[in-house]
Amino acid sequence: MNTDFLVVGSGIAGLNFALKVANYGRVIIVTKKEIMESNTNLAQGGIATVTRKDDSVQLHIKDTVNVGSGLSNKRIVKILAEKGPEAIRNLLSFGVKFDKENDELHLTTEGGHSMARVLHSGDSTGREIEQSMTESIRKSKDIEVFEDCFAIDLILKNTGCIGARILDIKNRKMCDIFARVTILATGGIGYIYQNTTNPEIATGDGIAMALRAGAKIEDMEFVQFHPTTLNKLGAPHFLISEALRGEGAILVNARGERFMLGYDNMGELAPRDIISRTIFNELKNGPVYLDIRHKGKGFILDRFPMIHQECLKYDVDITTDLIPVSPAAHYICGGIKTNEYGETTVANLLAFGECTCTGVHGANRLASNSLLESVVFSSLGAQKAKNYLKNEIEAPPQQKETAFANIETQELNYIKAELRNAMWDYVGIIRTEEKMDLMLRKLEHLNRRLDVFGGTGVNTQFLEIKNMVTVANLITKAAHTRKESRGTHYRTDYPTTDDKNWLKHICFEQREEKLHTFFT
Ligand code: SIN
Repeated sequence: MNTDFLVVGSGIAGLNFALKVANYGRVIIVTKKEIMESNTNLAQGGIATVTRKDDSVQLHIKDTVNVGSGLSNKRIVKILAEKGPEAIRNLLSFGVKFDKENDELHLTTEGGHSMARVLHSGDSTGREIEQSMTESIRKSKDIEVFEDCFAIDLILKNTGCIGARILDIKNRKMCDIFARVTILATGGIGYIYQNTTNPEIATGDGIAMALRAGAKIEDMEFVQFHPTTLNKLGAPHFLISEALRGEGAILVNARGERFMLGYDNMGELAPRDIISRTIFNELKNGPVYLDIRHKGKGFILDRFPMIHQECLKYDVDITTDLIPVSPAAHYICGGIKTNEYGETTVANLLAFGECTCTGVHGANRLASNSLLESVVFSSLGAQKAKNYLKNEIEAPPQQKETAFANIETQELNYIKAELRNAMWDYVGIIRTEEKMDLMLRKLEHLNRRLDVFGGTGVNTQFLEIKNMVTVANLITKAAHTRKESRGTHYRTDYPTTDDKNWLKHICFEQREEKLHTFFT
């Protein structure tokens, strides 16, 4: 099958790119579940942009770079902040509705922002964006969406990308889709951790595929842990948006004492890494709670209806109860290295959104910059998309056949559970050399167990776990290599930031199946 643009993934970055390039050529979107199942869909807080007269692009840049802890690329951050208002106009044009107050966009604040600049749609901003974009996609005659289709690997010829091999999950069939340009917009990796705000689909497939195709992967040690997720036995780590703290919710310990101001003068609005580590340590002495009751029932129901409903399912009424919280893996700051047009180091392969490392986030991400990053850079990439139309759709090279196999699932379930538990325990919020050594050994062992399945063919579960192990290996190797603490990466054996030796990025590249590490 042939197309002009092949987009892998259906979050905000992939959908925005598809909608923008549909005027120029035929687009195929492949997504491994239904189109609406993405990290975007779960994003609660909002999208950060300068809209107030007393705010400025300079201030947005300053906040982003401060949180990025020395590793953000200032040129790229400037593009992000400057293009923010245009990105919002773009979303409005797709019918996205943001909350308003007295006819003005309502703005909230979150950790690390020096003023309120986060636009939102209640507490379901991601869903509002995803729904509006999906409606536009469904109406477009130039965009075809293949749901339940898993991208196994990129197809390469003469070191450029010419498409991807796809597993049609329902029909258990393989097919190759050839394209003038291929776009990875596969989202995050949170599901490699036992405790995460991310859905099951967040298994790092795009990053693993790009690595196998020879692309450079950077900043993988910087996994952001969200400080406040629901902490109740039997309940998922459902995100309790930072916007609650933005609207005045406070964190208290088991004795009902507010503790954050003792650690950072920004209190509950300190950068996420500081709050996550503080809560993680407080949890050793008893539960930690978020308290928003003082804002009143009317306000809470109006501003956080979805969080209220979700928590009720687990017997927590946020209008009258303290909310038990703990941190969980939320976002990866690193990924496939790209420039501002989404160009990777592999020809005719673009990438956008959380699977990328544009350089915006550095060692830590400013809250609500991720949806913005996805829209800004996928829009810039789309502006250059016409250039790819001159590419020939390449004659397929001789492909090794991949077979579908009904691989026994129990052992794969065990491998997945072991991986997720070990990543949480050994390469989580607080890291040490000793624990990461254990993780590296664990990964070798898990790989050997996975190899047993390799020969007989593949299924989705096997492919996903392979990708999860690949990504876990990159995170662990990067975190092991970086002998300091910075941003989201914290080691008790190297607890301080070492600008003299570590103001640099750790980058990976795989050549002839060997992983090479270098610094940029
Ligand atoms: C949140 O609502 O707290 C998450 C927003 C983000 O991760 O930027």
